[in-house]
Amino acid sequence: MTTIESPTAVASGNAATDKFKGERFTAGTSPERLSAIATEALAGFGALIRKHAVTYDEYRVLKQWLIDVGEGGEWPLLLDVFVEHEIEDVNSRRFRGTKGSIEGPYYVPGAPELPAQCALPMRDEDRVHPPLVLRGQVTDLDGRGLDGARIEIWHADDEGYYSQFAPHLPQWNLRGTVVADAEGRYAITTIEPAPYQIPTDGPTGQFIEAAGWHPWRPAHLHLRVTAPGRQPIVTQLYFAGGDWLDDDVATATKPELVLDPQVDDAGRKVATYDFALDPLAD
Ligand code: BEZ
Ligand code: FE
Repeated sequence: MTTIESPTAVASGNAATDKFKGERFTAGTSPERLSAIATEALAGFGALIRKHAVTYDEYRVLKQWLIDVGEGGEWPLLLDVFVEHEIEDVNSRRFRGTKGSIEGPYYVPGAPELPAQCALPMRDEDRVHPPLVLRGQVTDLDGRGLDGARIEIWHADDEGYYSQFAPHLPQWNLRGTVVADAEGRYAITTIEPAPYQIPTDGPTGQFIEAAGWHPWRPAHLHLRVTAPGRQPIVTQLYFAGGDWLDDDVATATKPELVLDPQVDDAGRKVATYDFALDPLAD
């Protein structure tokens, strides 16, 4: 893994790229399917080049920028911001349970196991932010609690940094694998996340700025929920009334995934969310 010394886009991009490169994926795509997709992609490029009369200077800048994206290790970041939401949408159409959302580049498998009622590992400086309790149940499509459910959760700190992608954070900060009880119930204490700005000091950020767009995602929790015999889901939860909820740079919000936490007698914000998992496809 690349040594990361400071929390920069290039450092976190390189860490995300190294993590992704660690596995070799295969897709079983037939030559016919590959040819059909590539032909349409190239035709689409051709059409937009003709429509906008793209110049040679613009073409050279594009080539240079694509090289920068690779050298900056930002392919996972760039693709997850602008493309993953379409892939997620197409691939989750057949499911009836809880809606999914993009995984993004910062998932790390193998976070330490925590009991059904737990607090995520965090630093003293994280503790100054309001506690948030996320609780609920993992069920089948008829609302019956599932035994053996696990909820992997990860989120950024209030400066927008994810542990293992910024060098100053402990390895599993704000990450955990929560083992729900025999009825699928869980209650996780963490801190309320803040809106998150995707790294702006690399080529992805330069492109966003050059286009006059913004780099913000609404505050969110990432989750991967599994249970034996059930289709795993990767999703995110957002917060009612939060900034950027209707203008997410990654186009990954869905109305079904918005929490509305209420303050309890102890002054904690508490949100309830049940995850319904589809049966595994045959
Ligand atoms: C995220 O943390 O949610 C994220 C970051 C970069 C690209 C896409 C998603
Ligand atoms: Fe995120």
